[in-house]
Amino acid sequence: MAGTMKPLLTDLVSNVSSVPPNFIRSESDRPNLHEVISDHSIPVVDLQHLEGPNRSTVVKAIGQACQNYGFFQVKNHGVSNEVIDKLMRVSKEFFHLPESERLKNYSDDPMKTTRLSTSFNVRTENVSSWRDYLRLHCYPLEDYVHEWPTNPPSFREDTAEYCNNTRRLALRLLEAISESLDLEKDYINSALGKHAQHMAINYYPPCPEPELTYGLPGHADPNAITILLQDDVPGLQRSIAVLEIVESEPGTESRFEVLSNDRYKSVLHRAVVNCKAERISIPTFYCPSPDAMIRAAPQLIDPVQHPSIYRNFTYSEYYDMFWKRGLNAETCLDMFKV
Ligand code: OGA
Ligand code: NI
Repeated sequence: MAGTMKPLLTDLVSNVSSVPPNFIRSESDRPNLHEVISDHSIPVVDLQHLEGPNRSTVVKAIGQACQNYGFFQVKNHGVSNEVIDKLMRVSKEFFHLPESERLKNYSDDPMKTTRLSTSFNVRTENVSSWRDYLRLHCYPLEDYVHEWPTNPPSFREDTAEYCNNTRRLALRLLEAISESLDLEKDYINSALGKHAQHMAINYYPPCPEPELTYGLPGHADPNAITILLQDDVPGLQRSIAVLEIVESEPGTESRFEVLSNDRYKSVLHRAVVNCKAERISIPTFYCPSPDAMIRAAPQLIDPVQHPSIYRNFTYSEYYDMFWKRGLNAETCLDMFKV
């Protein structure tokens, strides 16, 4: 069939002066770039005193952010600038490699544990998104690191170091989130089964007509908690009510609707592109292992005020649905309501 078609956006668009038709969204579904405002109302949580006598204050701040925003920025998060810079550098280098080199990692099968792809799911979607991405499974590291790219030469080492650091951060946050729900400290930790950690390195090339397309359309991430690292090119929007840009700090986003029985809501968000600069964003998706059973904490169900909202399901059931259904303004969690 389309044997001559290049699968990667980066190579397809390097010289175009307009957006190819398959990227153009219908008029009712375009990004409204002029509504994007720089936002300082996203809470910033300082983790410096998370371990110490003031822990309960920090836990409370995290709980408030989860309940009211589902989204917060973290500072004093314990991931050093050096580790972050190395990952950013090696990511940029990867996407600047010649196409033939990058294509060694290409696959459009969402179940592959290491793969370079484009848009979201090219097997099922009708409209393409302005993004290439490298997706890696990264926990347990020793199960996956041998699949990762070896070019640039320090890719595995630099990425693995970042993964170890963000895992530590994710575990600290999950303990705090458990406590903020009045659950035992390691409640969520246990609920995630054997745990898993995925990561995407998103590459958004400059786009000649950013008002016609998305980098990623509105969606809620499927995992438990996302730690998002961005470079200094803005592009993330929360797509509820007001559209806002989040400052370029590692931020987190939490998805605990089921476990918290809807007390904590996951935020819909999307990425827009721009005509001037390439943008890199690196979300870490901390998740349950595929066999983990997702259910509301019994302590958070009461038949009158908080009746059970979702049926129980395994994470792999949900994850499958996420990739098949495609990105959508409604989360596919609705399909699991009782
Ligand atoms: C994602 C995502 C946002 C961004 O990859 O799930 O929401 O800013 N990315 O790239
Ligand atoms: Ni996302």
